Amino acid sequence: MVIETRPRPAPISEIDVLNEANECTTDRSVDTKPLSAERAFAFWQKDIPEEYWSLGGEELRDRIALARAKLGERCVVLGHHYQREDIIQFADYKGDSFNLSRWAAEKQDVEYIVFCGVHFMAESADILSAPHQKVILPNMSAGCSMADMADPEDVYACWDELVEAGFADPDGQVVPVTYMNSAAALKAFCGKNGGIVCTSSNAPKVYDWALEGGSKVLFFPDQHLGRNTGLKKGISLDEMVVWDYSLPYGSLGGNTREQLERAKVILWRGWCSVHRRFSVAQIEKARREHPDPDGQAVTVIVHPECTMEVVQAADMDGSTEFITKTITNAPAGSTWAVGTEINLVSRLARENPDKTVFCLDPVVCPCATMYRIHPAYLCWALEELAEGRVVNQVEVDEETARHAKVALERMLSVR
Ligand code: 13P
Ligand code: SF4
Repeated sequence: MVIETRPRPAPISEIDVLNEANECTTDRSVDTKPLSAERAFAFWQKDIPEEYWSLGGEELRDRIALARAKLGERCVVLGHHYQREDIIQFADYKGDSFNLSRWAAEKQDVEYIVFCGVHFMAESADILSAPHQKVILPNMSAGCSMADMADPEDVYACWDELVEAGFADPDGQVVPVTYMNSAAALKAFCGKNGGIVCTSSNAPKVYDWALEGGSKVLFFPDQHLGRNTGLKKGISLDEMVVWDYSLPYGSLGGNTREQLERAKVILWRGWCSVHRRFSVAQIEKARREHPDPDGQAVTVIVHPECTMEVVQAADMDGSTEFITKTITNAPAGSTWAVGTEINLVSRLARENPDKTVFCLDPVVCPCATMYRIHPAYLCWALEELAEGRVVNQVEVDEETARHAKVALERMLSVR
């Protein structure tokens, strides 16, 4: 068996994301265009054999089905809720990042876990799965621009500054908490330093865990999830500071000593480009356009990666799984304005024809990096596996995986 691994993809810049966003339309067809026609989203991993570039939707579907039949139960395909329609149709399990990581931890009987999602999710699956299992990411450039905002070197430097300033001592005064959307090295850092991982579905419980163990949380990379969670836990805004990692060493991330002394939460200055687009003005417009003549007013539901103002103006917020379940279980005739990634919102609208479901932002883009998993890559990866060749394996080195697993298992045990 040939195992071909690739290095971690290069960090994604805001410019990359904007370039891809320029090609975005909200009315994307669910039919697959050949990879060669989707260059803005799919040109990143250029080295798959040329024949895959021109395959159309039907051909890809047939070949994927054939490869999967050959692999049988040795292989499972996981799909994050943000995956495009022409990928999610192949997923054996769909879920948010918490449920998919729990799945990887529990189902140790399959040989190949083909992860249709982004790099940090595949890394977590590799860390939590058994040594005999292999995790495959069909396109290695499917990353997360928010995760890239926390470069491990910057986080280590922040920690060193906090230690030097007397905040992060060996007694665990500051507890590092990393959002799932981060590099494996940062999960390992949390494992080594008394910290933990969280996802959008368990962040409040993770804060309870962390604040039982220390007096402050250092939360990275998403300041918005960190702030929204702090507010849910009754932590006031003046007890939360932002650490600006772009400032030189010694600047305390742009804070004074007094601010850090008072702080219960130190927030990394990261964000998600997709969720930052949602605004209070969009929520007000949705409410104006769906008044409440007979008890059928719009309900606004958003992901907690949105800003504090948006989360507070919404009626509810939660993970992609929470959003999915809430709308699916809502009464017929109800109306939902949703603040999250467009592939999920469009799917919810299609799957709930008895309800009105729309995206808060009329020109919102897909998560461009999630979108990079094109069926041609999936087809290529599965056909290679069916021939006994492992391509695009995501493999976290043993030392990193050992420490990261500690932080991930702490998260899985938090109830
Ligand atoms: P969930 O954990 O809610 O699936 O969110 C992951 C993510 O990347 C949201 O942008
Ligand atoms: Fe990352 Fe945002 Fe995409 Fe989620 S939606 S994977 S946070 S870039």
